[in-house]
Amino acid sequence: MSKRTAMSFAAVVLLAFAALVIAQERGRRPRAGASSFENTPLARSQAEKKVLAVLEEMGNDRSRRYLSVSQSDGRLMRQLTEAIGAKRVVEIGTSTGYSGLWFALALRSTGGKLTTHEIDPGRAKTAQENFKRAGVDDLITVVVGDAHEAVRKYTEPIDVVFLDADKEGYIDYLNKLLSLVRPGGLIFAHNMSRPTPDPRYIEAVTKNPQLDTSFLLMDGSGLGVTLKKR
Ligand SMILES: C[S@@+](CC[C@H](N)C(=O)[O-])C[C@H]1O[C@@H](n2cnc3c(N)ncnc32)[C@H](O)[C@@H]1O
Repeated sequence: MSKRTAMSFAAVVLLAFAALVIAQERGRRPRAGASSFENTPLARSQAEKKVLAVLEEMGNDRSRRYLSVSQSDGRLMRQLTEAIGAKRVVEIGTSTGYSGLWFALALRSTGGKLTTHEIDPGRAKTAQENFKRAGVDDLITVVVGDAHEAVRKYTEPIDVVFLDADKEGYIDYLNKLLSLVRPGGLIFAHNMSRPTPDPRYIEAVTKNPQLDTSFLLMDGSGLGVTLKKR
């Protein structure tokens, strides 16, 4: 073996040894298990406790919810809605009010209001009952009817839009509402992972330089979070 070959061989052995030591060191570092991150929402007030109790009851009984968002989706939307100090939230697709209750938690803090649209009168009635039981009916207006028509009436700025009705209708709702979303406002869109979202909506929120979109919680139904830039 030449001197040069011997040196190359020694260098390779040294590198392999260093990689082994680093890998072992990483393995030794304590890691948080998935369970360390699990946490249930905690009530800070009696009012919040009342809402969380209704949410829990609905969460534990699928018959009380109709195609509602997951708890993770609801919490994330509450967190972001509260963080931007939203005063005016518009939801398309009320169902029985599960997501509406998450918005109500934020709006109780921000002093804002939710207008939510539902085409099915029976579901709208159940939602209203749930809002009343949770003590947040003063924050929420339920509009019964086809939201494609109803949203035409809006003229005031909106802080947060949540799309969760007919999936092929998202692009129409976006086209009708985007100009009203205030700079710094958010558009949430449910079902970005399943069922397969409308490619026209995805294109509209990812190819417009006025917007910045992330797709979150995609191991569940998926939530699109779109910022209308300032
Ligand atoms: C997926 S559910 C909404 C779930 C709700 N956001 C939640 O997480 O609790 C969709 C709802 O949109 C309603 N919907 C469908 N098309 C609509 C339309 N054109 N206008 C208003 N509501 C509509 C349906 O009746 C259904 O209750």
